[in-house]
Amino acid sequence: MRVAATVQFLLVLIACSGHAVTCSFASGNETDRLSLLDFKKAIILDPQRALISWNESTHYCHWEGVLCTTKSPLRVVSLDLTSQGLLGPISPSLGNLTFLTNLSLSNNRFTGQIPQSLGHLHHLQRLYMSNNTLEGIMPNFGNCSNLKALWLNGNNLVGQFPGLPPRLQELNLARNDLTGTIPSSISNITTLLTFNCMFNNIKGNIPNEFAKFPSLQTLLVSRNQLSGRFPQAILNISTLIALGLTGNHLSSEVPSDLGSSLPNLQSLTLAGNYFQGCIPPTLSNASNLNAIDISANNFTGVVPSLFGKLTQLSMLNLELNKLKANSKQDWEFLNNLANCTKLQALSLAFNQLKGQVPSSLGNLPTCLFSFSVYTWEITNCLVVSLQA
Ligand SMILES: *[C@@H]1O[C@H](CO)[C@@H](O)[C@H](O)[C@H]1NC(C)=O
Ligand SMILES: *[C@@H]1O[C@H](CO)[C@@H](O)[C@H](O)[C@H]1NC(C)=O
Ligand SMILES: *[C@@H]1O[C@H](CO)[C@@H](O)[C@H](O)[C@H]1NC(C)=O
Ligand SMILES: *[C@@H]1O[C@H](CO)[C@@H](O)[C@H](O)[C@H]1NC(C)=O
Ligand SMILES: *[C@@H]1O[C@H](CO)[C@@H](O)[C@H](O)[C@H]1NC(C)=O
Ligand SMILES: *[C@@H]1O[C@H](CO)[C@@H](O)[C@H](O)[C@H]1NC(C)=O
Ligand SMILES: *[C@@H]1O[C@H](CO)[C@@H](O)[C@H](O)[C@H]1NC(C)=O
Ligand SMILES: *[C@@H]1O[C@H](CO)[C@@H](O)[C@H](O)[C@H]1NC(C)=O
Ligand SMILES: *[C@@H]1O[C@H](CO)[C@@H](O)[C@H](O)[C@H]1NC(C)=O
Ligand SMILES: *[C@@H]1O[C@H](CO)[C@@H](O)[C@H](O)[C@H]1NC(C)=O
Ligand SMILES: *[C@@H]1O[C@H](CO)[C@@H](O)[C@H](O)[C@H]1NC(C)=O
Repeated sequence: MRVAATVQFLLVLIACSGHAVTCSFASGNETDRLSLLDFKKAIILDPQRALISWNESTHYCHWEGVLCTTKSPLRVVSLDLTSQGLLGPISPSLGNLTFLTNLSLSNNRFTGQIPQSLGHLHHLQRLYMSNNTLEGIMPNFGNCSNLKALWLNGNNLVGQFPGLPPRLQELNLARNDLTGTIPSSISNITTLLTFNCMFNNIKGNIPNEFAKFPSLQTLLVSRNQLSGRFPQAILNISTLIALGLTGNHLSSEVPSDLGSSLPNLQSLTLAGNYFQGCIPPTLSNASNLNAIDISANNFTGVVPSLFGKLTQLSMLNLELNKLKANSKQDWEFLNNLANCTKLQALSLAFNQLKGQVPSSLGNLPTCLFSFSVYTWEITNCLVVSLQA
């Protein structure tokens, strides 16, 4: 793209020699140039000298991180200054880059608010501002009708969910200080693939309307203040690949048809809630599951043998529940785990598993044999804990 832009610039220069009028039109847009200069002016620290090329002797389409249209008039379509250590506020002037489609400012030290003016960028498709120190409330993005990806995770943003456009695909607001509840109107964004608001202070529960999502793959709401029963709407999102409810105040039994309702599930984390009852027997129907963490709940009953059917399983954390084993038969599940040849981490610590640990443990895959019942053992590739 850099090469394409250079060629374009040369063409502009050639055009200049013969046609002065074409030149002044084609060589750029003063609004874009001034907007970028304003953005630069606000930067307090540029430790890697990322903006050294942003000077008068260089056309703004050749400034580091700037990409322009390849056709005249040259307008800024992309600004990518990821991981440059930049410190300072984000100038509202970026809202004047009318043709901006991609804006990537992740992994810097941008401070202050996200300018409300960004909500006017109708062409904006991707906005990445992850891992900065942005604060205040988010702009309303409802009018950014082309926005597909909105990543604002890892900041200090406050307030409620922002206004969102109808064709969004990826929403990542994790690791902020957001409050309020998840608005049911989000379910109207039928294009949504990723919904991540982990590590905030969101209350309430997953809205029932979430059952309408036709293609949602990632639903991560771990580490919030969600309460109430296991959200029934989840059972209707058969496209889910990753579900994270860890570290909330959810209670009740987990629906027994969870696994058969979510056949594509690969990652399931329900740890640190108040879930009770049996481990859902249909988990074996979600045959792509590779990570299951249901630790620190109130699950009861024996450990089901179903895990042996999950050949992709690499992590199984059942610790800190009230799972029981009294007889030899109750330990049968360990034999079945021998089928999980990819298993790397297994914990059964802090349950009510009693009796003789079967010798069949020797059948467990590769390094899953070194353990003791009362202590953690760490082998080369595995943490096993069977603490009573
Ligand atoms: C520059 O962009 C602004 C805002 O989009 C527009 O109003 C103006 O006509 C453009 N100027 C030129 C010379 O293209
Ligand atoms: C202006 O930018 C160019 C790169 O585009 C760089 O070579 C030059 O050193 C810069 N000039 C100043 C004064 O920083
Ligand atoms: C915007 O980002 C997407 C994904 O990273 C990329 O495919 C696309 O080419 C970018 N567009 C521009 C104009 O930089
Ligand atoms: C952005 O545009 C508005 C109105 O179009 C103007 O008042 C403002 O000065 C512009 N800001 C920059 C930095 O170009
Ligand atoms: C943001 O930081 C987290 C670690 O805190 C990291 O996992 C993630 O990849 C970073 N995001 C981006 C876009 O670099
Ligand atoms: C969205 O656009 C409409 C129509 O231009 C306008 O009335 C409304 O105020 C805009 N909303 C936001 C949040 O900018
Ligand atoms: C979803 O959109 C429909 C029609 O556009 C509207 O009637 C409904 O109120 C919206 N639902 C929510 C929860 O906002
Ligand atoms: C969820 O799925 C069930 C069974 O397929 C269906 O009866 C119900 O209407 C669905 N709920 C919603 C809100 O779509
Ligand atoms: C677990 O269940 C017991 C009763 O079986 C109850 O007393 C206890 O409060 C529950 N603990 C949690 C964390 O839900
Ligand atoms: C779940 O798997 C069992 C066998 O493990 C099978 O009998 C049952 O039909 C499956 N249920 C669904 C809904 O696929
Ligand atoms: C484990 O694998 C063996 C043979 O591959 C099979 O007969 C057995 O049913 C499997 N066990 C479970 C629990 O799936």
